[in-house]
Parts: sequence; structure tokens; C-alpha cells
Amino acid sequence: MSPRKIVIAIDGYASCGKSTMAKELARKIGYIYIDSGAMYRAVALYCIEQGLFEGNRLDVEALQRHIDDIDITFVLNPETGRPETFLNGRNVERDIRGMAVSDKVSYVAAVGFVRRKLVALQQAMGREKGIVMDGRDIGTVVFPDAELKIFLTASPEVRARRRVDELRAKGQKVSYDEVLHNVRERDRIDETREVDPLRKADDALLLDNSTLTLEQQDQWLMQQYRRVAGLDPQ
Ligand code: CDP
Repeated sequence: MSPRKIVIAIDGYASCGKSTMAKELARKIGYIYIDSGAMYRAVALYCIEQGLFEGNRLDVEALQRHIDDIDITFVLNPETGRPETFLNGRNVERDIRGMAVSDKVSYVAAVGFVRRKLVALQQAMGREKGIVMDGRDIGTVVFPDAELKIFLTASPEVRARRRVDELRAKGQKVSYDEVLHNVRERDRIDETREVDPLRKADDALLLDNSTLTLEQQDQWLMQQYRRVAGLDPQ
């Protein structure tokens, strides 16, 4: 039996491994993977580079004037087989992952016109289905009709530890306390913003992966996919 082509939405808190999980599933089942957080990060990088931040205060009016100048695309890196983020034609994949962008991104992601622009782009990317997208509002706003919705969580301490390991492996110098603070602060802003706040969709499956290995998590996700795509007998 050939599988039903579906949309898979993976939402959850900062640094809980959504993208690792989403990427691996997409690779296994031959779906497109879209990291919606990378798009918010690219807009945040644009704001930083254009001097639109004074401390944590974003000049929203200036951003509104520039919003149509911001072009975000994903290009597949033929060597790694992974999509990389481009901002106005420049590869920013590395720049958007550092702490400077992590510190500012949630302020940018709280702005209504930024969300409207990125949500429209994300919806266009999913029109043909066969897509795994991760973020904060994918199951609630971007694809409310997604056939499979996952809401991922883990304790803030576990999430901070994982993010520190990931950043240090990339050669970035970060402290555990700084990352833990950032993870908590982003969660707070993401959950309390007025526009499309982070929340679990009523029909999303909740997974706390604090004590799961990557293999256990991937296995669980594959089971959910097989069930919803009609590959397993009900
Ligand atoms: O990878 P991590 O969970 O740390 O974050 P991310 O997915 O790269 O997202 C970075 C930030 O973008 C989040 O903290 C949110 O403020 C924002 N975001 C959002 O508002 N909506 C999305 N669909 C995805 C990300």
C-alpha cells in the first residue's frame, strides 16, 4: 500500500531537539524539511545588522519600512544534503545559530507583520504536502489541519545542556548559565506574546523527551508517522 502524503507539524519549547527529530524523520521518509525558526532567526540577524536594536528594544517602525527588502530562502547543500538558510542571497546558516541571534530572535518573532509574512511563506511551502516543519505555531496557525502534530518538551535544564553541547561542538564559547537563561527567556516571550503564542494544539501528541535517547525518540515518531500515513494496520 502506498503511504498517504501528509503534513507533519512539530512544535515545542526552545532547544528541545525539534529540528534534530524533524530532520531525521524527513530524511527517512523522503519529505521536505523546513526549519521555521531559521526564518525568524534570519529576520533577527537582518535587524541586528541594520542596527534596528537598541539593547532589547527593536525599532518596529523601521523594520516595517524594510520588511519587503527581506528575502529568505533555503538552498540544499549538496555535500551535507541539508538545507541552509539564505538571507538576501547570502548564506547565513552559521550566523543565525549563535547566541547574538538567540538573544534577540523572540522579540522579532513577537511582531505581527513579521509573523504574517513568514507564515504565508511557510504555508506556500506546504501546499503540496510531503513536508515536516518545526517551530512554535505550526500545528496551531501555519498548518492547523496537519495530519500529524507533535508537541515536544523537556526540562529547561536538559534543554540547556543539549544546546551548550551543540554550540561547543561547533566551536562557540558559551556558558551553561547563559544558555539556560536564554532558553527560559525565549520560552517566556514565546508563550506570552499576543500574536500566535507558543501553545500545544488540542490535537497534538505530547512528547516529553527529557529521558529518551535519540533512537527511542525517532522510533516513537516513526510509529506515529506510519499510523497516520496508513502504513500500519489500525
Ligand atoms: O532551535 P530552537 O528551539 O532553539 O529555536 P528555533 O526553532 O530556531 O526558533 C527561534 C525562535 O524563533 C523561537 O524562540 C521563537 O521566538 C521564534 N519562532 C517562532 O516564533 N515561531 C516559529 N514557528 C518558529 C520559531
